[in-house]
Amino acid sequence: AFQPFPTFARGNDEWPRGHARNYGSSDTCVQVTVLGASGGIGQPLSLLLKLSPLVSKLHLVDIKHTLGVAADLSHIDTTSTVKGFTTEKDEKALEQSLTGSHIVIIPAGVPRKPGMSRDDLFNINASVVRDLVTACACFCPKALIGVISNPINSTVPIAAEVMKLSNVYDPKKIFGITSLDLVRSNTFVAELKNLDPADIEVPVIGGHAGKTIIPVLSQIKPSGICFTDDEAAKLIHRIQEAGTEVVKAKAGTGSATLSMAYAAARFTFSLCKALKGEPNIYEWAYVASNIVDCLSHFSSKLLIGKDGVAENLGNGDLTKKEQEMVNNALEDLQKSIEKGVEFVKKSA
Ligand code: NAI
Repeated sequence: AFQPFPTFARGNDEWPRGHARNYGSSDTCVQVTVLGASGGIGQPLSLLLKLSPLVSKLHLVDIKHTLGVAADLSHIDTTSTVKGFTTEKDEKALEQSLTGSHIVIIPAGVPRKPGMSRDDLFNINASVVRDLVTACACFCPKALIGVISNPINSTVPIAAEVMKLSNVYDPKKIFGITSLDLVRSNTFVAELKNLDPADIEVPVIGGHAGKTIIPVLSQIKPSGICFTDDEAAKLIHRIQEAGTEVVKAKAGTGSATLSMAYAAARFTFSLCKALKGEPNIYEWAYVASNIVDCLSHFSSKLLIGKDGVAENLGNGDLTKKEQEMVNNALEDLQKSIEKGVEFVKKSA
């Protein structure tokens, strides 16, 4: 049987053997729309989605260049159909692409350049996310929405506020995609301990910027992987600064795109599986949450079901040091959340 991407193999039995399974009835159609599909993340993400039998219809939306990307991908001999929509010249593009969508993934916006923090992107990306989620509220209010555009710690609260303004807010359905932090953590731990990354699962909680990225080394699976204090400190620092490592290496041409596309594809496939009724779909993502007092949003372990977050499984038992890291992140997270909420209030 055709296996779209064997290199996606994970240690658990979902990758890649899961692709050969029967995901619900044959008429279970999943329409995924990518907003920002011509970009550095959007293009490889769309390619990975096109390769998967979990996606039936793929709608690609961008300001420009989308028709070329869609024509190119549409020649790939997998069963999903691909359609491109260009918002610059077609005022119906958002309506036509979003209507009927079950999942919307948003990598639209500008990426970092060397010396920039994710928060420096706020001025541009806040309005991009606000406007695109407003369109989702109008044309696919029940869709599961995955936000990639940074700063995630603010853009996800922005998405929530926009949905509230349109009276269609469902806190279970908006996700800030933090999967790249988990992917990086798995890789770095595997490198350090000379293990296969496919066998490793490192939980990452909190948010998606600097010290709000909190790897929970005490809960790594499989258990029994130990770190000296020095190893742990260096590892945590590398995970928190991994995005900047890529921004520096790309020297002004952008931030992580290929690894992000992989991470977002993995997350999107989990949403697809959940929509198709597959049980035991677990992910970490930045969502509306009451796991931490005083914060409206936080990333922790989630059970995903047909309607989005079925259960927030929280942070598990944290060590004293890990709890300190959470405490140290509270102020930054709070500020980022407030900034997003204020932005929508001001522009309403
Ligand atoms: P890019 O600039 O290569 O692509 C962004 C695309 O969005 C462009 O094609 C642009 O035309 C499009 N776009 C902008 N405004 C739009 C609108 N209103 N409607 C439709 N399309 C629009 O940027 P790249 O590298 O793909 O990064 C995208 C975003 O993802 C950035 O904000 C970046 O910071 C973020 N990112 C998030 C990560 C995460 O872990 N969540 C990791 C890496 C990047």
